[in-house]
Amino acid sequence: MKNILITGGAGFIGSHVVRNFVNKYPQYNIVNLDLLTYAGNLENLTDIDAKSNYTFVKGDICDDKLVNRLFEKYRFAGVIHLAAESHVDRSITDPMSFIRTNIVGTVTLLNAAKNFWKDNFEAHRFYHISTDEVYGSLGSEGFFYENTPYGPHSPYSASKASSDHLVRAYYHTYGLPVVISNCSNNYGPNQFPEKLLPLIINNIKNNKPLPVYGKGENVRDWLYVEDHAYAIDLIFHKGKNGETYNIGGENEWTNIKLVNKLCEIMDGKLHRVSGTSAQLITYVKDRAGHDLRYAINCKKLQTELGWQPTVTFDKGLEKTVNWYLKNTHWLQNVLSGDYEKYYQNQYQKR
Ligand code: NAD
Ligand code: DAU
Repeated sequence: MKNILITGGAGFIGSHVVRNFVNKYPQYNIVNLDLLTYAGNLENLTDIDAKSNYTFVKGDICDDKLVNRLFEKYRFAGVIHLAAESHVDRSITDPMSFIRTNIVGTVTLLNAAKNFWKDNFEAHRFYHISTDEVYGSLGSEGFFYENTPYGPHSPYSASKASSDHLVRAYYHTYGLPVVISNCSNNYGPNQFPEKLLPLIINNIKNNKPLPVYGKGENVRDWLYVEDHAYAIDLIFHKGKNGETYNIGGENEWTNIKLVNKLCEIMDGKLHRVSGTSAQLITYVKDRAGHDLRYAINCKKLQTELGWQPTVTFDKGLEKTVNWYLKNTHWLQNVLSGDYEKYYQNQYQKR
């Protein structure tokens, strides 16, 4: 049985990746290392946590003693690294935690992989999960390609860019077998309600203002989270060492159009008169350094590895809205005192 380390597996995307690997690959023992920060939630994994090929370890990727102990004990064949501080707005108010986890944490894992795998690099793989935000911002035309120069604007994207560079440096300098993917905006079940979609869905449900930054003209390219998890599976097994793969939904929406679409869907679900929820839309002060547009060209992944998204946006939004309306217990649990404080602070100053 091969041991595979997945970091950040209790978070939004990580939990979908862990579930896919545990269910699909009984020949793997999946070790999920997660610090359970505000964004990590073991409730995301209750359906698989009793499986014999799954092990959870609560811990910090920056803790080199712990990371080395885990490498010693499990002799990992591969690492799929998702653990990160992931919310742009939080990176603007608290950059240091992003530097620590996203940069120092990644290097801690790289060092362990380098030391434990040095006699047999070929049998191993270090897969780093990154974001399209490292490329910066597009105007109204064009796309991000794998060779687009990096130009991050937020402390979050700068910390992810830095970690990508370090992963590549370990490939070029030490020969560590690495692969990287850069994905566009994910949506779906289990996303923490500080991010646009779950925040808007939850606020519509509770008749709260729907905060739209600036004029709502910023554009994001949306992908259903299970299609990202499927791409990660493909890249982990079939990607080439030293390569980067872009992942995207080819599905661009301005924020205001998307918020209006969610309002329409929610009016239907909540049996409200059409147009009721849209009255909650409130334009608020723009995010500092707000990137105008992200759009991914993912032809490399499509042609070289045969990936295609399987969930249409209409279907994905339907599944997502239904999930949040059904899982009120999950929402209540994450909307704890700490999150309330963050929310008040984030939106009162605008
Ligand atoms: P998330 O914030 O939902 O989850 C992050 C997880 O990492 C949490 O479970 C948290 O507890 C854990 N974590 C944080 N600090 C840790 C530490 N020091 N040690 C161990 N665990 C720690 O994030 P997400 O949205 O699921 O994103 C996962 C990864 O995918 C990130 O690397 C992010 O940059 C990348 N990504 C996200 C998106 C997106 O749209 N959400 C798109 C592209 C790439
Ligand atoms: O592109 C990939 C990235 O997508 C990931 O790397 C990040 O981890 C993930 O958080 C996401 O970043 P964004 O900043 O694009 O996502 P967010 O949901 O925070 O915001 C989406 C858009 O909506 C963005 O243009 C800002 C805007 N927005 C966001 C919030 C929270 C609002 O207008 N109002 C809001 O209240």
